[in-house]
Amino acid sequence: MVKDVAEVILNSTYLTALTGAGVSAESNIPTFRGKDGLWNKYRPEELANPQAFAKDPEKVWKWYAWRMEKVFNAKPNKAHIAFAELEKLGILKAIVTQNVDDLHERAGSKNVLHLHGSLRVVRCTGCGFEFEVEEPPEIPPLPACERCGSILRPGVVWFGEMLPPEVLDRAFMEMERSDVVIVAGTSAVVQPAASLPLVVKRNGGIIIEVNPSRTPLSEVADFSIRGKAGEVMEEILSEVRKALF
Ligand code: APR
Ligand code: ZN
Repeated sequence: MVKDVAEVILNSTYLTALTGAGVSAESNIPTFRGKDGLWNKYRPEELANPQAFAKDPEKVWKWYAWRMEKVFNAKPNKAHIAFAELEKLGILKAIVTQNVDDLHERAGSKNVLHLHGSLRVVRCTGCGFEFEVEEPPEIPPLPACERCGSILRPGVVWFGEMLPPEVLDRAFMEMERSDVVIVAGTSAVVQPAASLPLVVKRNGGIIIEVNPSRTPLSEVADFSIRGKAGEVMEEILSEVRKALF
């Protein structure tokens, strides 16, 4: 199947990717669902929504500071590197990611759209000022905006919040242009991200899924490869390279 997928990728005119937490799993960043998922240990209602933050900002900030620590100290894995190589070869045109880590960028990917924001970004709840951080903030005290004094929040999209409209528009545009999309490491249950690959399908394009488990997308995917993103993407890249050089 990998050889067929590599051929589809080589013959594509506009290849994109939609990635989820599973592509960062091999960098020791926990996913959200499944056996050791974050949502098994923590309740998203208590941590990843505006009401939780309003009720107990210190508790929410402590959890995000822990996640930032994990992400900032993590290394890109073979999956991130393979995606970056496919972009360097001029084959992969864009990655739309649900992930809030920056491992795609740190692996060398340039065109990355973050649907759910980024742990690298912190935003003021008052004046909206936002900036990138190298380190997680020490909590307590609650980080305050140097411009207006309001408390800062993680620059991620919480449950019940709108996705950044310009990013979402661009993501749909990328899918409208795609004749092939690789969907890797996502349980394909969270909207609107899960609808993006269906745009490619509706336009007669090809969906390639990479996931050790079945997902709701598996039955509509043209290729559904049961495997870890690191290994599978590395195999796909080596087949592509063999055909090119
Ligand atoms: N390689 C590929 N896929 C993997 C791997 C791996 N090594 N390990 C796990 N997976 C798969 C799991 O089988 C699962 O289908 O990754 C998927 C992870 O699913 P989720 O934990 O639901 O993560 P994701 O799909 O990214 O969640 C979407 O939900 O909680 C919100 O905002 C959060 O962006 C997140 C969104
Ligand atoms: Zn401010």
